[in-house]
Amino acid sequence: MKFAIGVILGLLLFPLLGVLYVTSGRMPAAATDPPMPFEGAIAGVALNARIRRAAPTRNVSGFTTQELVSGADIYQNDCAFCHGLPQQPMPTAAQGEYPRPPQLFTPDGRVSDDPPGVTYWKVKNGIRLTGMPSFEKSLTDYQLWQVTTLVSRADNLPPEVLSSLKPLPSPAIGSSGALALPTPPASKPQ
Ligand code: HEC
Repeated sequence: MKFAIGVILGLLLFPLLGVLYVTSGRMPAAATDPPMPFEGAIAGVALNARIRRAAPTRNVSGFTTQELVSGADIYQNDCAFCHGLPQQPMPTAAQGEYPRPPQLFTPDGRVSDDPPGVTYWKVKNGIRLTGMPSFEKSLTDYQLWQVTTLVSRADNLPPEVLSSLKPLPSPAIGSSGALALPTPPASKPQ
């Protein structure tokens, strides 16, 4: 009897403590908050298990330089904002994100060791509760593979491809970061 009461109380107590924690205002919700206990481990295990089940296998060694250049154009438009460009400092947005987006052209952030199918899965589906978007709706399957192949070969890209990964000049924004608006006509002398 005591045992049964213990089990019932236990069953009630755990969800109750969970609800109290979530509604207490103490659970980390800001990008700048420290991680919850075990957050990294749980999220990592869930993600890896999911990807192992679902990632396709594909040999991307046949992609041509031209296809990699197309991948670099996609990267410039959709990824560089968070994942950075070769030989460039970490972009401003990336510095304030939690979790940090790996800088895909640095030795620490490269995904060259991952099977391309795993990287493709991440780009296609995104990574929940992180800044990593899903590109399934905005890129075609061919484009997904082009940009996947680009980042999978980040350690070994031909010069034509690297030159497509230079920072783009932003015509409307001056070096001071101010918008270059047309100067208003000088007011009439009084
Ligand atoms: C708004 C920011 C943002 C944009 C834009 C973005 N990502 Fe990400 N990406 C992230 C973050 C944050 C992570 C880290 C997620 C994590 O820690 O699990 C990530 C993770 C990844 C990973 C997994 C890296 C690893 O080590 O496993 C790959 C690959 C990736 N992104 C590729 C891309 C590509 C390709 C694009 C463009 C098509 C892109 N991302 C656009 C924020 C972004």
